[in-house]
Amino acid sequence: MRSLKRLLVAGGAGFIGSNFVRLLRKNRPEVEITVLDKLTYAGNPANLAEFEGGRGYRFVHGDICDSQLVDSIAAGVEAIVNFAAETHVDRSLMEPLAFIDTDVRGTAILCEAARKHAHEIFLLVSTDEVYGEVLDGRSREEDALKPRSPYSASKAGGEHIARAYAASFGLPLLVTRGSNTFGPYQYPEKLIPVLITNAIDGLPLPLYNDGSAVRDYVHVEDHCRAIDLVLHNAPLSDGVYNIGTGVETNGKQVANAVLEIMGKPKSLIEYVADRPGHDYRYAVDITRITELGWEPQVTFPEGLESTVRWYVDHQDWWRPLRSGEYWEYYKRNYRALTKPSA
Ligand code: NAD
Ligand code: DAU
Repeated sequence: MRSLKRLLVAGGAGFIGSNFVRLLRKNRPEVEITVLDKLTYAGNPANLAEFEGGRGYRFVHGDICDSQLVDSIAAGVEAIVNFAAETHVDRSLMEPLAFIDTDVRGTAILCEAARKHAHEIFLLVSTDEVYGEVLDGRSREEDALKPRSPYSASKAGGEHIARAYAASFGLPLLVTRGSNTFGPYQYPEKLIPVLITNAIDGLPLPLYNDGSAVRDYVHVEDHCRAIDLVLHNAPLSDGVYNIGTGVETNGKQVANAVLEIMGKPKSLIEYVADRPGHDYRYAVDITRITELGWEPQVTFPEGLESTVRWYVDHQDWWRPLRSGEYWEYYKRNYRALTKPSA
């Protein structure tokens, strides 16, 4: 069991990062947290507003690619947990270079600071997408990385750099590869919040192609508990941990479940042209994290119901996000996608 008293949480103003800060504040109030976040379109100070001014909490607005800033913050902490990334696959098909900058170079700059300041741990929050499309079986941590989108390739690039730092300089590295995460505070561009917020507004629920692509949806509280467990308890020798539930759900099942919970008609579903290079299935083997003592506690139906309720009750959180830049992106993403039948 590691006792870490001063943590840098990079990307802590985003969806999973802010839920992780919330978990830490609740379960480990003695830990001093510095959040470093660039506040891109996906980063939102409102996600962390409840901690502002609290003892042992500090927010720094900045970029993980700013090596001087990172170095000065890293000097005062014992470990870094890196959530900071460009994270949306569809945006990576529009602006791939932003993904390389943050997910590869930014990760390298954090590794460099962790090495220089002899940190106890560098935990890189990665993704099951680095394995690429997995049509059969389940990915194990030793499997080859075969990413197929600019997003997943940039995450794999960050992992490779971090592993190179571990092998070459002894960086004490842990990597988590989480599956599709859902729950409160998720920016409404990923499938589940798009479906929920569109259903609230009576807008079409867009499903790529035939809605058959399969994902493993893990609730954000479960994902954050898993990261916390790895950070504090995982031996460095195992290094990489898959995180997921083992349950497979396709897009059509998700959309139907959202509409069922909300009492809205199935006719709101609209099949649109496919995402280029769409990975039709990811599936991870979770034996290693299970043996470390984690298991998911929130079932998909329970988690989806509470998430729908959260978006219904927190329209003040997401309505301001669905303005200018959002609709620009939305039009660009979905207008280009003509209906296959059209
Ligand atoms: P998000 O897009 O909601 O948040 C990303 C955060 O990083 C934002 O606050 C953003 O402002 C910040 N950021 C981006 N570029 C930055 C930079 N250059 N410097 C500093 N901050 C920067 O993402 P998320 O869904 O919370 O994902 C967090 C991490 O978890 C990512 O590394 C992602 O790859 C990984 N992950 C996400 C999922 C998922 O389903 N959401 C699943 C597995 C792994
Ligand atoms: O697997 C983990 C990854 O999950 C994370 O690393 C990424 O950061 C996160 O964005 C997520 O990637 P996906 O591409 O799987 O998530 P997304 O919510 O964009 O899409 C989920 C599935 O739903 C996928 O098969 C594409 C489909 N989809 C998505 C959107 C946005 C639709 O059918 N319609 C949509 O409008």
